[in-house]
Amino acid sequence: KRVGVLISGSGTNLQALIDHTLDPHKGSLAEIAIVISNKEGVEGLKRAERAGIPTKVISHKAFPTREAFDTAVMKELDLMNVEIVCLAGFMRILSPAFVTHYRGRLINIHPALLPSFKGADAHQQALEAGVRYTGCTVHFVEVEVDAGAIITQEAVPVEIGDTLEVLQERVKTYEHKSYPRALELLARNKVSLDTSNGKAIWNL
Ligand code: GRF
Repeated sequence: KRVGVLISGSGTNLQALIDHTLDPHKGSLAEIAIVISNKEGVEGLKRAERAGIPTKVISHKAFPTREAFDTAVMKELDLMNVEIVCLAGFMRILSPAFVTHYRGRLINIHPALLPSFKGADAHQQALEAGVRYTGCTVHFVEVEVDAGAIITQEAVPVEIGDTLEVLQERVKTYEHKSYPRALELLARNKVSLDTSNGKAIWNL
């Protein structure tokens, strides 16, 4: 399956997806066809380039509306015959038209155990709530942000005295295992989205 990855930053999850899909021992059914960033010069683009994967910068600032930006991204993905879209630290909210176009083939990773701690400051919320476990979730993307049927989750302990940075780093090590697993489940049709009710259909 041809995969497009959308990023905005450091791209450590992208790196995990690259390492997984390019490892001949893994026999992955997924192949990253393009990496698109809405920000130029970010480390994630360099990671893709080092792996010989085509990249494209599409700056949201170059478009008058969210819809116009999304249409440009959609055009590029469809041009590359992308079948699955992975959001990996992509910091733009996608319009309903985009989400509908790729519904069931569009997945995201969130650094918390959804439905807890939605939004951009998940680790801050976890620390403030005083939970002893947080984690990460890979889920199908729906129009509602950080909603959508869950594909994989990992629980990660919060240690007493954790700072934001320490917790974020610990959760990321789990993200890097969870995202390739989720992508592989989708690429192998082991999971799909029932678009009539938004629930996952498992076929293990
Ligand atoms: C990750 O924590 C991910 O869960 C969140 O954004 C972060 C991206 O990190 N959606 P990276 O760019 O993959 O290192």
